[in-house]
Amino acid sequence: MEKDNEIKNTDACDFDIAAPDAGAMIESLRAFGYDLPTSIADLIDNSISAGAKNIWLKFYWNGENSILSLKDDGCGMSESELVRAMRPGSRSPLEERDPEDLGRFGLGLKTASFSQCRKLTVATRSTGQNIAIRCWDIDQVVKTGEWRLLKMTIKNMDSYFSDLEKMEHGTTVLWENIDRIVINTKVDSKRDHKLFLERVDSVKYHLAMVFHRFLERGRLKIWINDRPVEPWDPFLKNIKATQLLNEESLDITRKIFINPYVLPHHSKIDDETHNSAAGPKGWNAQQGFYVYRNERLIVTGSWLGLGFKKEEHYKLARIQVDIPNSMDCEWEIDVRKSIARPPTFLREDLKRIARLTRERAADVYRHRGKVIARASASNFVYVWEKR
Ligand SMILES: Nc1ncnc2c1ncn2[C@@H]1O[C@H](COP(=O)(O)OP(=O)(O)O)[C@@H](O)[C@H]1O
Ligand SMILES: [Mg+2]
Repeated sequence: MEKDNEIKNTDACDFDIAAPDAGAMIESLRAFGYDLPTSIADLIDNSISAGAKNIWLKFYWNGENSILSLKDDGCGMSESELVRAMRPGSRSPLEERDPEDLGRFGLGLKTASFSQCRKLTVATRSTGQNIAIRCWDIDQVVKTGEWRLLKMTIKNMDSYFSDLEKMEHGTTVLWENIDRIVINTKVDSKRDHKLFLERVDSVKYHLAMVFHRFLERGRLKIWINDRPVEPWDPFLKNIKATQLLNEESLDITRKIFINPYVLPHHSKIDDETHNSAAGPKGWNAQQGFYVYRNERLIVTGSWLGLGFKKEEHYKLARIQVDIPNSMDCEWEIDVRKSIARPPTFLREDLKRIARLTRERAADVYRHRGKVIARASASNFVYVWEKR
């Protein structure tokens, strides 16, 4: 049946009102291309922007009724703020953001959640206020054809949100009906339970990488099923044999900083360090630029379409790039925060830096790094002129 009740043809006006069909639209919001780790990272961005110091992630295996919850001790929201936050497109991407804000499109909470589940409930409390709870149930929206944001009470949700009652402020996001994570399975299926746990591991590795700078400085703790997530540093900064080439700032007024690193030759580190430094995608795939937006990693090893290939002998080259959130438009940051493309005016500089870092990395890979490193008296190895 075609639902055209939202199309109002008003003869007296020179326009029609063509509001999106609620059911069709909410199903489309599921297809932004998130996977489980990137969708959870998007929720964590919100927690960090809300000033959270702790994030507790829980994955409960219960076959088809498995659920996932994420609780933070951030500032929380008032009831009206919660209703606004649950609206798809809650803030315009053109709005200027606080420099620390990790959000942009006013979509992440909804699109990230819907990409994994059909039922999203958010419970939140800001200081001195009662807990407010709202829920999007995709099946309800499809059935009614209306954007009905359901009001829930703590009474019927107590088992999920009772911890929040003990906190002064914070937010819990609950995903039920996680059809993109578990489907057609039974609670006693050992194979599916194992697959579920493997997916939990993939989340752990991704968060350890994407938020490593927050985790390293103790600014943030993330717990998955009560175990802390340890940071994964792509640059092995704590290892002496790692070389930091000269830091550069490009476009100084807007604070873009580039720190190129050449990681140590395999022979300089123990096997365990070498294996863990490979990263979630492996040594070869993890070479290239690492683009951080407000210290949150967006691009995790890529030559950014600058014309370089990933090759074995360049695998020790990893280059840290820091950009502020005021450059989102120029870097073409996408909703998932998984893509960043360098603006044209930076491409030549980035190419030059990539070329020099790759050369140095290839030297170290071929065992010649040691000689060059010894020739330099300082901690840094200057391979180009400081500007
Ligand atoms: N964990 C949270 N704590 C406090 N506020 C939150 C939280 N998650 C979301 N919000 C609020 O909801 C809004 C919408 O979030 P989201 O859909 O992810 O878009 P964006 O992060 O781009 O603004 C945020 O701007 C924030 O005000
Ligand atoms: Mg967000």
